[in-house]
Order: sequence, then structure tokens, then C-alpha cells
Amino acid sequence: MTIMTNATDAFPHFSQRRAVRIVFASTSGHTEYVVDALTDSLKSITPGWEIEATRAEKMKPQDLLSGDVLLLASSTWNTGSVEGQLNPHMWVLLHDDKAKTLDLAGKPCACIGLGDHRYFYTARATDHLEHYVRVHHGRLIVPTLKITDEPYRQEEAVRVWGRQLVDASKQIDRC
Ligand SMILES: Cc1cc2nc3c(=O)[nH]c(=O)nc-3n(C[C@H](O)[C@H](O)[C@H](O)COP(=O)(O)O)c2cc1C
Repeated sequence: MTIMTNATDAFPHFSQRRAVRIVFASTSGHTEYVVDALTDSLKSITPGWEIEATRAEKMKPQDLLSGDVLLLASSTWNTGSVEGQLNPHMWVLLHDDKAKTLDLAGKPCACIGLGDHRYFYTARATDHLEHYVRVHHGRLIVPTLKITDEPYRQEEAVRVWGRQLVDASKQIDRC
């Protein structure tokens, strides 16, 4: 007779269950396309995980604390004629008074930035997102994914990066 000690013995993948909170800003839909491709990929390889993607303009700063893993994704803009800025929606979210004082307290984080090679400061959103995570005491668990130019036909890079993210997320100590 087999005695099961707990539910995770019966369903091993539940013991590594994670909630991944994706926050993205997208204007023409490129970042959204990448986030959709990533979400589909994550869902297919991590049944039981909670993968939730939300637009930055629908988020409150304190929502950044929810979930086990925080993923920030943004395109790059030339707001005010200055190249290499965050997408305005992500900028507004991360520069809100509450976001400015948010303590990510070691939260596992990852970043995705998009841009276009025709700009001198190509895909600088990556730098801004990483900077936010570091300054607010988040922990980058995988190298940032940079997507230059249209994301169509770059799905394989997204899928491979997603696999890296899953592997790194499984290493997270759960309290
Ligand atoms: C107004 C505007 C400004 C942009 N500025 C930059 C820039 O400074 N650097 C860069 O790499 N790409 C820049 N881009 C290109 C976008 O980042 C790129 O097309 C991205 O894939 C758009 O993603 P989204 O549709 O999710 O917003 C700019 C695009 C627009 C429309």
C-alpha cells in the first residue's frame, strides 16, 4: 500500500508552484505581443502556475509587490524629444510617489525591453527597468531580455528566455 504524506507527493509540480506578475507598457502592440507569446509559453510549460499580465496603466504601485516573481516589460520612447526613455505608461507607474518609495525587499524580478535599431539609444528601456529593480531592492534572477525591432519571428528567443525564467523561479526559496 502506498501512503501519501502530502499533496505535493502526488503532484510534484505543485510544490514549485509560482505566481508570476507581468506588468507591461505597450503603444503599438509590440511589447504586448512579446508578453502574450511569453505568457502562452509559460502556461504551457508550467501547468498550475499563476501567470498574470496587466497593463501598467491599470496597475497601482503596491500591486508590484504581489506574486512570487515580478516581470516588468516596456518599449523605449523619446518622450520630450529625449531618446531612450521608458514607455510613458511605465514611466508614470514607476514614478508615482508610492512607487518611488516601494521596497521590493529582495523580490525576484526580471525585465524585458523593446526598441528600434534606428535610434541611437536602442532599447534603453532595459536599463531603466533594471535600474528601478536595483534601486528598490529587487533581485534580478535572469539577464534582461532585449528585443530589437519588430518582435514577429522572434518568438523562439522569447520562448528560450521564458524557460530560463522558469528554471530561475524554481530556485526561489519560499518562506
Ligand atoms: C514615439 C516613439 C519613440 C521611440 N523612441 C525610441 C527610442 O528612443 N529608442 C528605441 O530603441 N526605440 C524607440 N522607439 C521604438 C519602439 O520602442 C519600438 O518600436 C517598440 O517595439 C514599440 O513597442 P510597443 O508597440 O510595445 O510600444 C520609439 C517609437 C516611438 C513610436
